[in-house]
Amino acid sequence: MSAFIVLGAQWGDEGKGKMTDYLAEKADIVVRFQGGNNAGHTVEVGDKQYKLHLIPSGILYDDKINVIGNGVVVDLKALFEEIDYLEKEGVEVTPDKLLVSDRAQLIMPYHKILDGLKEKARRENNIGTTGKGIGPCYTDKMERCGIRVCDLMHREVFKEKLRQNIEDKNAIIRLYGGEVLDFEDVYAEYIVYAERIKPYVKDISVRLYEEIKNNKNVLFEGAQGFLLDIDYGTYPYVTSSNTIAGGVCTGAGVGPTVITGAVGIAKSYTTRVGKGPFPTELTDEMGDMIREKGHEYGVTTGRARRCGWLDLVILKSAARVSGLTSFAVTKMDTLAGIDKIKVCTGYKFEGKIIDYFPACLEDLAKCEPIYEEFEGWDESIANAKSYEDFPQNAKKYLKRIEEFTGIKVSIVSVGPERNQTIVINEI
Ligand code: GDP
Ligand code: IMO
Ligand code: MG
Repeated sequence: MSAFIVLGAQWGDEGKGKMTDYLAEKADIVVRFQGGNNAGHTVEVGDKQYKLHLIPSGILYDDKINVIGNGVVVDLKALFEEIDYLEKEGVEVTPDKLLVSDRAQLIMPYHKILDGLKEKARRENNIGTTGKGIGPCYTDKMERCGIRVCDLMHREVFKEKLRQNIEDKNAIIRLYGGEVLDFEDVYAEYIVYAERIKPYVKDISVRLYEEIKNNKNVLFEGAQGFLLDIDYGTYPYVTSSNTIAGGVCTGAGVGPTVITGAVGIAKSYTTRVGKGPFPTELTDEMGDMIREKGHEYGVTTGRARRCGWLDLVILKSAARVSGLTSFAVTKMDTLAGIDKIKVCTGYKFEGKIIDYFPACLEDLAKCEPIYEEFEGWDESIANAKSYEDFPQNAKKYLKRIEEFTGIKVSIVSVGPERNQTIVINEI
């Protein structure tokens, strides 16, 4: 039995989809435990590319069970669109392959409207959200007025909760000058959704408990990344869920004692999409070059990702907070051909050198990255079949990550395709 976690170690888009798909080969079940369709996970198999938002990246295998946990916020419209898209691509998404938690919160049409209106009202202080209704949905969860998947299974309960919510939300929408919703329209839409989702709905904590007892291998697929965590990220420029390892227990209904390990997915440089601080950001030609070579454009919103050098302070902090047991380093091929590569190994802050991420953005703004410089490597890395094939300078780079963080690099990715993956130590 193993219960293994895949987590983003930076600001998201590290290659979690690719690595989850790769690791899923040896798993029986793949579980999303937080976030929603703000995520955009890319998987490439052969010459086919799949973009997943809500459905776990184990779905491309015929024999894996995929679970949307209670900690996920579910936009049913988006979920059905994704199921239809996958089926069109020849991937079956039957109720024995996909299970949706009865406790998951629903992203309702008013959440998406409020996400947009609130962002607009924040003007230059906006967060730069994906506009998918994530923040407003988690707000309702905590305010205890959210609508859950199980509510939808009881028509009268759903009707009452929806009526109350539409009344409350319309008042807020009016306040922001937005267009109000009609209860009957939304109700009619969701009654159709209720029938379609019904066969997928399960108590996933009970199911996972049984599977783990039967020695099955479970893979938990994180969305977003360490610094987008609601508690440990660059608040308020974060998402609204716990993206760190702690989110697995609350978001999937499993205890911490079953977890057997956690791999942090780290891009060989750093990117971030949306607003917020980014100490190693490159706003020059080098940043543009990395963006173009690495195709750094968002899977969910198409926005250009900000690019910068690798920041080991971030990786070390992610390892601490999530108890990472190894790293998977991705996109080593993107850095190929650069002469001198920089890596941040600390911040100069108020006369001291620190190697952790400060809580206050005001303090972070005063942090000056300290860099070490590395000699680059050539394009041959994209064709490497084993670690022995790696250019010496690429090996040195990976060794430095291990040395600084105290965590071994177990997997290296040298291209987007499933097989462009090199395992150094089995995890
Ligand atoms: P996720 O959100 O963490 O799953 O990552 P995204 O899918 O948003 O972004 C990662 C992008 O990099 C995708 O386009 C992947 O296909 C691609 N990718 C993943 N690993 C590698 C790699 O090692 N090399 C290259 N060139 N691309 C990669
Ligand atoms: P994956 O799983 C990168 C960012 C948004 C914004 C902030 C809040 O593909 O790595 P939200 O819509 O969640 O309220 O937006 O979080 N963000 C992501 N950035 N990758 C993601 O997911 C992200 N999901 C949200 O850009 O800055
Ligand atoms: Mg992504």
